[in-house]
Amino acid sequence: MRNARKTFLPFALPSISEEAIDEVTQVLRSGWITSGPKVKQFEQEFGKFIGASQAIAVNSATAGLHLALEAIGFDQNSAAITTSVTFTATAEVVCYFGGEPILTDVDPLYNNMDSRSLELSIKKFCYKKNNKLYSKKTKKLVRAVIPVHIAGATCDLESISAIAKKYGLYVIEDAAHAFPAIHKEQFIGTNGDFTVFSFYATKGITTGEGGMVTTPHSQFADRIRRTRLHGINKESFDRPSWYYEVTDAGYKYNMTDISAALGLVQLKEANGFWNRRREIANQYIQEFQNIPGLQLPSDFEWGSHSWHLFRIELDPSLAKVGRDTLCVELKDRNIGSSLHFIPIFEHSFYRKQFDYNREDYPNACKMYDRCLSLPLFAGMTNDDVSDVIRSVKEILY
Ligand SMILES: Cc1ncc(COP(=O)(O)O)c(C=O)c1O
Repeated sequence: MRNARKTFLPFALPSISEEAIDEVTQVLRSGWITSGPKVKQFEQEFGKFIGASQAIAVNSATAGLHLALEAIGFDQNSAAITTSVTFTATAEVVCYFGGEPILTDVDPLYNNMDSRSLELSIKKFCYKKNNKLYSKKTKKLVRAVIPVHIAGATCDLESISAIAKKYGLYVIEDAAHAFPAIHKEQFIGTNGDFTVFSFYATKGITTGEGGMVTTPHSQFADRIRRTRLHGINKESFDRPSWYYEVTDAGYKYNMTDISAALGLVQLKEANGFWNRRREIANQYIQEFQNIPGLQLPSDFEWGSHSWHLFRIELDPSLAKVGRDTLCVELKDRNIGSSLHFIPIFEHSFYRKQFDYNREDYPNACKMYDRCLSLPLFAGMTNDDVSDVIRSVKEILY
């Protein structure tokens, strides 16, 4: 194919500096490779970065979401309201308990849960009794709302929190895409009852696999510190003697010092990564703005996008080609792309288990037909960016 790159450009790659490799190597040589001083330091510095009082490191965001639900006493008689446009992890943790994920549609621009979609789902799928919400389908008590800051665009947290407060729901923010992101002059991670970050390989910063939970509630923070490691009431690295007590049936969700060492260096580099992603996103926006049928993401006036992903939408009635053709033609030019996300209700497990109805989610369905994520990561060279711009223009003009 004419104009194809010589090497494949994935839609995301981690940026690992020599300093990070050196720090991880030091931990490997130190004799203490699992949860220890590096994890503690990473928690403190992460908390300081975003301004959160309590930060608890775990081995994935999925684990963090699970532990947040566990901390509030979520059980098989509970339901949580979350968005239909997310990765399976967000809904799957509700199923770990035998609970019900009640889905919302999304706003048409950012594809986030907003007050309109949340209220609509409450009206359609819930009933109220004594100021509490119950699922019409399963009669389970709704305990939490789990908004997701898709791609790093922050949700309307004030409206969501106001609705949550009205019905006594905890707000557990899935911020897997939102480090760092700013909402109303505050970093994401300082608003809800819990915020859960991901440090998966392609995220804003990475620890290989990993996650962080922030919460202003010290009793929940204490519980998560225990439940992430077998329900043991003392962290292994400052156990003075052989004694420890198991207070709960916990999990094996602790982060290792190997991961935390990488995380500490990534944290120092986070602003640089963020600036580079912002620069690339702005360049795409400038270059693509007149392409017919192409809807672009944008920064927003209420804060700053993390630019974890650059998600575009193609209107099939106006664009030269549809989303699937764009994806294939980019691949022919050696450029990767991806879709964020196949809506939860499209997956066979959720469809069979909860009998969702596509008609309830028109914006999510529209997104699913039209959306594609273009390459965006801090390590992209100027040539990589130019290749994407040239290819997208070639295909869509
Ligand atoms: C929106 C969302 N939530 C949760 C997760 C789970 O993150 P982790 O892989 O750290 O468990 C992901 C992972 O990609 C995600 O995209």
